[in-house]
Amino acid sequence: MSHTESLAGVRVVVTAGPTREPIDPVRYISNRSSGKMGFAVAKAAHQAGAQVTLVSGPVSLATPTGVNRIKVESAAEMHDVVQQFISGADIFIAAAAVADYRPQQSAAQKIKKHSDTMHLELVRNPDILASVAALDNAPFTVGFAAETQDMEANARSKLMGKRLDMIAANQVGNKVAFDQDDNELLVIWRGGSKLLPMQDKQTLATNLVACIARQYRIAHSREEKQ
Ligand code: PMT
Repeated sequence: MSHTESLAGVRVVVTAGPTREPIDPVRYISNRSSGKMGFAVAKAAHQAGAQVTLVSGPVSLATPTGVNRIKVESAAEMHDVVQQFISGADIFIAAAAVADYRPQQSAAQKIKKHSDTMHLELVRNPDILASVAALDNAPFTVGFAAETQDMEANARSKLMGKRLDMIAANQVGNKVAFDQDDNELLVIWRGGSKLLPMQDKQTLATNLVACIARQYRIAHSREEKQ
């Protein structure tokens, strides 16, 4: 690992996994994220020398050695925990598949099947990534973009719209990216881009973290000169 790829002394917060949005005490809305990508990123950042906090939705993965893991369930909980840990962080990497909406109300008791149809009112969840990027003292902020179509254009619009430093775009679908061992990422930042071709998620995460470290160092040295 070269000096520019080292994260020694750097504090990194990573989100991973899905969120669960409760409908009633036994049911929820969620998605197919396994947490593998985010956990691999947390492990790679730790191996690069960073002090890593991993905020994860419910997954069945072991915590990477040396990583401080905080378990959450819903997007609102993930948002609150990230807010708590983000002050003092140098880099934020949002690999979680956060539910964009949650049921407006979570029923206190299990909902009974009285009628043939059922209406569920959903409300928007907070955008964790955008709220971190908008902080006064925002860390170097890296988002993911999970797209089924127009991947690069959609990722570029998320990079600009959410005012991110970098975005890692992946094509997703049935048996693609979500809950798979391998993945491919197109990493985009304001000054360039790099394709990290299909490979196992741990090797991919190591390459992604090296890419993040290089751009973080460039942004950091620019800030120091100002
Ligand atoms: O967990 P795996 O099975 O290994 O699968 C990996 C993955 C496909 C989940 C991962 O590579 C990935 O793409 N993660 C982001 C999934 C996602 O929700 O993407 P998005 O394009 O909908 O969201 C854009 C970004 O905003 C993401 O960084 C997301 O974490 C963030 N976001 C979205 C909504 C929200 N309310 N808060 C957020 O922070």
